[in-house]
Order: sequence, then C-alpha cells, then structure tokens
Amino acid sequence: MYNGGKIIIGIIIFVGLVTFPLWSNMGKIEVKPDPKTDTAEIMKLPENERVCVEATTFMKKEHMQLLNDWRDWVVRDGETIYVNATGKEYTMSLQKTCMKCHSNKTKFCDVCHNYADVKPYCWDCHIAPKEKEI
Ligand code: HEC
Ligand code: HEC
Ligand code: HEC
Repeated sequence: MYNGGKIIIGIIIFVGLVTFPLWSNMGKIEVKPDPKTDTAEIMKLPENERVCVEATTFMKKEHMQLLNDWRDWVVRDGETIYVNATGKEYTMSLQKTCMKCHSNKTKFCDVCHNYADVKPYCWDCHIAPKEKEI
C-alpha cells in the first residue's frame, strides 16, 4: 500500500496552499464604510425632510466640489445663501450648515475618508464639532 499518512499530509498542505488567499485575508477584511446619518439634528427633522442639501447620490460624488464652490462664493463673491436644486435655501457654511447636521464627524466624514485614505486639511482652521465620548 502507499503511505497513507504522507498522502493525507500532502492533501492537507495542498488544500492549505489553494485556499491561502482566503484565510490569509482573515482579520483584515475591509468593511465598506457606513456613514451614520442619525444625529440628533437630523432625527428631529420630519422623516420626509431628512435629506442633504442636495440629492444623496450627488453629495456622495460631489461634496468636495460643492464645498469648494461654497468657499469661493462666500470668500470671493460675498454670497451667503445657497439655493439647491429644489429651491430650498441654506447658509453656505461648513461649520454652521454641514457640521450642524453631520455633527458626528468621526462616524460620518471620517469613516469614509479613512477608507478612501483622504485627509481633508479643513480642520486645521475650521472647528470640528465637539463629539461626546462613547
Ligand atoms: C439638513 C441637514 C443636512 C445638512 C445641512 C447637510 N447634510 Fe449631508 N446629509 C444629510 C442627510 C439626512 C443625509 C442622508 C440622506 C439619505 O439617507 O439619503 C446626508 C447625506 C450626505 C452625504 C452622503 C452620505 C452617504 O451615505 O453616502 C454626504 C457626503 C453629505 N451628506 C455631506 C454633506 C456636506 C458636505 C454638507 C454641507 C455642504 C451637508 N452634507 C449638509 C443631512 C444634511
Ligand atoms: C460616503 C463617503 C463620504 C462621506 C460621508 C464624506 N466624504 Fe468627503 N470624501 C469622500 C471621498 C471618497 C473623497 C475623495 C474623493 C476624491 O479624491 O476624488 C472625499 C473628499 C473630501 C474632500 C476633499 C479632500 C481632498 O483632499 O481632496 C473634502 C473637503 C471632504 N471630502 C469633506 C467632507 C466632509 C466635511 C464630510 C462630512 C460632512 C465628508 N466629506 C463626508 C467620501 C466621503
Ligand atoms: C488656512 C485656514 C483654512 C483652511 C485650511 C480651510 N479654510 Fe475654509 N475658510 C477659512 C477662512 C478664514 C474662511 C472665511 C470665514 C468667514 O468668512 O466667515 C473660510 C471659509 C470657508 C467656507 C465658507 C464660510 C464658512 O463659514 O464655512 C467654506 C465652505 C470653507 N471655508 C470650506 C473649507 C473646506 C472644505 C476646507 C478644506 C478643504 C477649508 N475650508 C480649509 C480658512 C480656512
């Protein structure tokens, strides 16, 4: 008979090598970010008004550009009011508008930015919202 022991060990090593890419990733699986939009400020809005300044799909892709525009319009052009696609008005302010609703910076902005490995430098000057320690 063949050496059963060696064959079994061989099979175990073979299975181990073939599945290596699976288990070698264990413990460092990247979880897709799940930005939380359940702040007190947002939750106190009526359910049908729990929306961003523009459509969520637009915000996902374009919020950096929108923030840039807001800054230019405020600082260069002296404008203060933004009228969105539905005609609703907002004060153009990072701290007073965006961060009033998204007061959970670490569980909102940061979870995405850490995942995408971007570090906006805005907080060098703008004051990030105070968050309660959990
Ligand atoms: C009136 C409260 C409010 C204001 C002000 C506001 N947001 Fe939002 N934002 C929301 C809500 C609520 C959602 C989630 C909407 C949904 O569930 O579709 C959201 C969604 C988003 C998203 C998409 C999140 C995701 O899950 O992909 C981004 C990015 C975002 N906001 C950034 C901003 C920025 C930047 C500003 C300022 C220019 C801002 N928001 C101002 C309430 C607000
Ligand atoms: C749904 C995920 C998501 C959320 C939520 C989010 N961001 Fe972003 N943000 C990104 C991604 C991804 C980039 C990088 C985009 C790129 O480089 O094209 C980015 C880039 C930026 C930039 C430009 C930074 C740079 O160096 O180019 C700014 C400013 C910014 N985000 C502000 C905010 C603020 C403020 C909030 C919270 C109110 C926020 N973002 C919430 C995903 C998100
Ligand atoms: C070097 C300091 C500095 C940095 C860094 C900085 N800002 Fe500003 N920002 C200012 C100053 C000063 C104003 C003018 C404040 C005013 O007129 O009330 C301003 C105004 C703004 C405004 C309009 C007014 C307001 O209250 O928000 C927006 C929007 C803005 N910045 C967004 C950003 C974003 C987004 C970033 C990061 C990509 C950023 N800023 C980084 C200093 C800075």
